[in-house]
Amino acid sequence: MKGKRQEAKGKEQKCGRSPRAEYSSIFASCLLPLAFCLLNSQSALDPAGPQSGRIISLWWLMFYVTGAVFVIVMGFLVVALARSRRPRSGEAVDAPDTRPDAGGERRMSRVVLAGIAATVVILFVFLVHSFLTGRALDSVAAKDHLTVKVTGHQWWWEVQYDNQTAAYVLTTANEIHIPLGQPVLFKLTSTDVIHSFWVPNLHGKTDLIPGHEAVTWIRADRAGTYRGQCAEFCGHQHAHMAFTVVVEPYEKFKAWYDSQLAPAPQPSTPSQARGQQVFLSSPCVMCHTVRGTDAGARVGPELTHVASRGTIAAGTLENTRGHLAGWVVDSQKIKPGNHMPPNNLEPADLQALLDYLQSLK
Ligand code: CUA
Repeated sequence: MKGKRQEAKGKEQKCGRSPRAEYSSIFASCLLPLAFCLLNSQSALDPAGPQSGRIISLWWLMFYVTGAVFVIVMGFLVVALARSRRPRSGEAVDAPDTRPDAGGERRMSRVVLAGIAATVVILFVFLVHSFLTGRALDSVAAKDHLTVKVTGHQWWWEVQYDNQTAAYVLTTANEIHIPLGQPVLFKLTSTDVIHSFWVPNLHGKTDLIPGHEAVTWIRADRAGTYRGQCAEFCGHQHAHMAFTVVVEPYEKFKAWYDSQLAPAPQPSTPSQARGQQVFLSSPCVMCHTVRGTDAGARVGPELTHVASRGTIAAGTLENTRGHLAGWVVDSQKIKPGNHMPPNNLEPADLQALLDYLQSLK
C-alpha cells in the first residue's frame, strides 16, 4: 500500500503537477467556452446572419413537427395501455370473444394508413424545406467580396486574407475579423487531417480536407464576437481547436486590417528589446513569424500582432500575461500533444520575452 502511494507520488512529481492543479487547469480551460455559450456567442439558436437564419428555421420546423409526432405517438400508447388493462382480482371476467370483428379491423387499417400518409407528407415537407435551405445557403455569394483562406493545423487555424496586391495579403491566426453585412468567401483546407470549420451563429459546418479546397460563404448581419470550433474529431486536442470571428462595421474592420498589415512595433523599452533578443535567439524563431524581424517561420501561428488577440492557444486561454507565461514555458501542460516544445528560460529572460510579446499589439 505504502509502496503504491510512493509510486503515485513519484508519478505526480514526474509530471510536475498535482491532480488538483491539473483539475483547476481543466476547469479554467472549460470556463472560456462556457462563458461564450452563456453570452450566446456560440449558439446555433441565436443566428447572426442569413445562412444561420435559414438553418435555424429548418431546425425549428423539425423540432415542432417531431415534437408533435412524439406527443401523438405517446398519446396513442397511453390509450392502448389503458384499454389492454388486465382486470383486478375479484373483477368479473367476460369470456373472450373469438368472433372476427370486421368493423374493428377496418378501423385499424384506416388508422395505419393515415399514419403512413402523415409520415410521407411530413418527410416530403422536410425534404422540400431542407432542399430550399441548402440552395439558400449560397445565395449571399456576390462578385464584390472578401476572400479569406483558412488552413486547419493540429490544433490551430491559419488565416490568410487574399488580395490581388501582394502587399495587402494578410496572414494571422485563430482570430478572424470580417466586415458587417458583406459577403465573405471562405476557402478552407488542411495541412494534416480533416478538420471542420463551424461558427454556429453564422453558418453550418464545412470540412477542411487535406489537398482539397472547400468553399463556403458567410455574411454576418449583426456585429459581435462569435466563437467557432473545430467540429470534426482531429486528434488529441480537437476540443481545444477554437477560434473567434469578430464582426464589425467596415470602418472598424478596415482600421483593424491596416493595423495588422503593419510590421511588428519596434521595442520601446530596454526590457522589450531584451525580450526581442530572447525571441530571436531561442527556438521560438524556428516556428513563428514576427514581421519586421528575422523571424519568418510558418510552422506555428503568426505572432506579429499576437497581443491584439483576445485568446491564445486557439481559443483555449484568455490572452493574459500569466497564461502567456505558462504557455511559453510548457504548453504541453496546457494542451498535451501540441507541437510546441517546452522552453527552459531564465526568469529574467522570460519576463523580458513576455514584455516583448505583450508589446506586439
Ligand atoms: Cu480540428 Cu477537430
